[in-house]
Amino acid sequence: MSIIDKVVAAVTPPESEEARREARAKARAAASPGDWLSQALEHHVKIEAAFAAVKAASTPATRVAAQKKLALILTGHSNAEESVLYPALAGADEKGHATMAYSEQAAAKTQMALLENLAPMSQDYLDKLEHIRGAVAHHVYEEEGTWFLELREKVATGDQAKLSQRFEEEFSRYVGGEGRLHDQAAYA
Ligand SMILES: [Fe+2]
Repeated sequence: MSIIDKVVAAVTPPESEEARREARAKARAAASPGDWLSQALEHHVKIEAAFAAVKAASTPATRVAAQKKLALILTGHSNAEESVLYPALAGADEKGHATMAYSEQAAAKTQMALLENLAPMSQDYLDKLEHIRGAVAHHVYEEEGTWFLELREKVATGDQAKLSQRFEEEFSRYVGGEGRLHDQAAYA
C-alpha cells in the first residue's frame, strides 16, 4: 500500500450517514442563494450523483463515459476550492484545515488518475471507486460540518461576495457551465 493509499484509507468515513446529513443541513442553513457556499453544496450533490452513475453503469462504454463526467465535475470543483476557498481559509487563521483540505484533494486526484488504468468492469475498479467515494464523502463532511462554516464566520461580510464571484469564475473556467457538462456526457 502506497503512502497515498494509506492516507486515503485512514480517512475513509468514520462518521455516520446521520452525521453527514446533519452537517449538510447546517451548511444549507448558513448558505444564501447563489453564494459560494450554495454553489459548493450544489456541486457536492452532483458529485455524489456522478459517483452513483459510475457504479450503476452496466457496460464498459457507459462506465467510462460516467467516469469522465465524474472527473470533470470533481476536478472543476476541487480546482475552484483550491484556487479560492482554501486560500481564504488559510487567510482566516485556519492553515491546518486548509493544509488538510489540499492533501485530501491531492490524494483523490491521484486515485482518480489511477482509476483510469483499471479495467472498467473489474472488481479492482469497483473497489477503488468505492475507496475514492468514501474519501470524498469524508472530505465533504469536513467541509460542510466545519471548514466552510469557519470560512462563513471568519471572512468579513464584504469579502464574501468576492469569494462567491471568484469561486463561480474558477468552476466555470473548467466546467464551462451546465451545458458543457451535458455535452461532455453526450460525446464521451
Ligand atoms: Fe468541496
